[in-house]
Amino acid sequence: MLIYSSNQPPQQTYLKRFPVPRNFKMDQHSRIGHGRIWPAPRPAEKIKKLEVYRYEPDTSTNPRIDTYEIDLGSCGPMVLDALVKIKNEIDPTLTFRRSCREGICGSCAMNIDGMNWLACTRFLSETADPATIYPLNNLPVIKDLVPDLTHLYAQYHSVEPWLQTTTPDPDCERTQSPRDRQKLEGYYECILCFCCTSGCPSHWWNGDRFLGPAALLQAWRWLADSRDESTGKRLDELEDPFRLYRCHTILNCTRTCPKGLNPGKAIAEIKNLIIQRNG
Ligand code: SF4
Ligand code: SF4
Ligand code: FES
Repeated sequence: MLIYSSNQPPQQTYLKRFPVPRNFKMDQHSRIGHGRIWPAPRPAEKIKKLEVYRYEPDTSTNPRIDTYEIDLGSCGPMVLDALVKIKNEIDPTLTFRRSCREGICGSCAMNIDGMNWLACTRFLSETADPATIYPLNNLPVIKDLVPDLTHLYAQYHSVEPWLQTTTPDPDCERTQSPRDRQKLEGYYECILCFCCTSGCPSHWWNGDRFLGPAALLQAWRWLADSRDESTGKRLDELEDPFRLYRCHTILNCTRTCPKGLNPGKAIAEIKNLIIQRNG
C-alpha cells in the first residue's frame, strides 16, 4: 500500500509486543537498567505509560528505561506528541529527532513496541500499555532516541543517488513520458527514515558490506529512471556477493516501512535486471 498523503496513515495490524532483547548476552556495561518513574500530575483524565530508552553518553552510567506517565487529556494523539509533551513539561533532557511531524522528513523514526516506525504517524491509541520506545535497532546511539546514521548515509551515498547522463545536455530539461514516470511510483516516495535497514536481519550481521534495503531501494529508483544513462555502471557496482546478494528476501524491510513502500521488491528488481544483463 502506498501512502499518498500525510493524512492517510497506514492501517496495519501490529505485533503488540515483539520481544525486544534487553539484556540478552549483553556485557555488563551495555545492560539496560531500570530508570526513574515520572508520575503524571494529578488529577489526570486518562493516564498512559511510556517506557523510554535513555542513554546519556556524558555520564558513565548504563542505559536505562525511564517510565513516563502522560495525561492523555492534555496530549495530542501521536507518539511524537507524547514525546514532545515529556520534553516540554516533564523532562527536558529527553532527546529525540523530529521536524515535520507529518511523516515527510523521516527524522522521528524509532522503535515503538518492538517495531520501527515514525513517532509522528503512530497513534498512541495503537500502542501497548505501557508503550516501549527505543531508538532504531542495531545502530550506535548518540543519546536517548537518537541513532548515529553516519554509516547508513555513507551507504546511501555509495549508490550515487543522482541522475547520471552521458549524452549531451538537451536545450530544455530531460523529459520523461507519463508511462516511464509511473515506473518510479513506490520508490521516489522514500523519505530515508532507515526503519527498513535498521530492521533488516542481514544488515544486522553484514551491515559493513551489505548496503541494506534503504540504499538498495534508492539504487533501484535510479536504475528505473528512464532518463538515467548509467545503468551498466550502477549494476557493476551492485553485482557483489555482499552489497546486493546478502538480501535473503526475509522482507522485514517491507513490513516495517512506514511509507508503505516495498524495498524487498526493489531489491528483487535489481537482481532481475542483473540476470537479464548476464543473459
Ligand atoms: S528482504 Fe532483504 S533487505 Fe529486506 S529485510 Fe530481508 S534481507 Fe533485509
Ligand atoms: S524504504 Fe521505507 S523504511 Fe526504508 S528508508 Fe525508505 S521510507 Fe524509510
Ligand atoms: S517528524 Fe518528520 S517524519 Fe516524523
